[in-house]
Amino acid sequence: MTGGCGFIGSHVVRSLLAAGWDVTNLDRLTYASNPANLAGVGPSAPYRFVEGDVCDASLVGGLVEGMDLVLNFAAETHVDRSLLDPGVFVRTDVEGVVCLLEAVRRNPGAALVHMSTDEVFGSLVPPLEAAEDTPFNPSSPYSASKAAAELQVRAYTTAYGFPATVIRCCNVYGSHQHLEKFIPLFTTRAFAGLPLPLYGDGQQEREWLYVDDFVAALHLIVATLPATPGVHAVHVGSGERLPNRVVAERICALAERPTSLIAPVGDRPGHDRRYALDSSGLRSRGWAPAVPFDEGIARTVHWYAANAAVWGGAATGEFAAYLERQYGARLAVRGTPPA
Ligand code: TYD
Repeated sequence: MTGGCGFIGSHVVRSLLAAGWDVTNLDRLTYASNPANLAGVGPSAPYRFVEGDVCDASLVGGLVEGMDLVLNFAAETHVDRSLLDPGVFVRTDVEGVVCLLEAVRRNPGAALVHMSTDEVFGSLVPPLEAAEDTPFNPSSPYSASKAAAELQVRAYTTAYGFPATVIRCCNVYGSHQHLEKFIPLFTTRAFAGLPLPLYGDGQQEREWLYVDDFVAALHLIVATLPATPGVHAVHVGSGERLPNRVVAERICALAERPTSLIAPVGDRPGHDRRYALDSSGLRSRGWAPAVPFDEGIARTVHWYAANAAVWGGAATGEFAAYLERQYGARLAVRGTPPA
């Protein structure tokens, strides 16, 4: 698999090892990877770590040879960073997938499962939900790169006649997520008594899935991979759609901090109002989320409270510079200094 040192990837690595798989983890160890996410895993069989780039054709080609399954979790994923620096998203998220597709088409024994996102559909007006065949309508460089990656998967599977699975998932949350994302950012800043920069009116809705429920979905998906050539899209959504302000207030309550920390700031450009997946396909195959948001968010906030050593504590280095770039002016406008 690729991207196993990231948030979702690290949960997937642990779960596959627990289920008895041999796992090779190709990860470039970018800022979003955290080797501490896999503390205690490996270093030897059945786990192998390879530090390298998903865009390195000869490395990827060699690794895919002899594999049964290729899981692609390597990606640049943060919408705000894609607005600041889009080029790296095209490279990792699109060129990386093309590199994997080239390797997979040369190794017909290797099944490809590619991680995508509900964001490829853009914003959906209620009561719309995205079906597997809803057209793409991305509105950030990040979601456009993921849509482009999916089109590459579609083109390769059509041209070369092999099957591949694309997983479109809603927002996943839980332990080990990078602090730049909404829930970890607000949680850790709430602990520190820092302002929580809520974009715009805070009424944007996201569909939240606890990471263990994603992992259970993945296991079902890989256990029942289709053999017919072409791309097979699977939607993994919790159905729990909440406005950002409600999530921010829940975090304040769990962190025992006042909601006055919530600081409305200038909106994200092109900010999608609402994501919503129709995941009846996977549910009809026997999957359902087991952890409701109330429970998952409590577990998550408690994990961050107890594991500063894993997530790194106060922002330093590249992350501190990113926070200043992303939030400095927004919070300064409100008269509140950045972290
Ligand atoms: P995020 O975790 O970046 O995921 P995505 O944009 O991929 O859904 O953001 C989740 C929501 O939280 C999104 O509507 C943007 C909002 N948000 C804020 O209001 N403030 C923030 O500082 C961040 C990072 C996100």
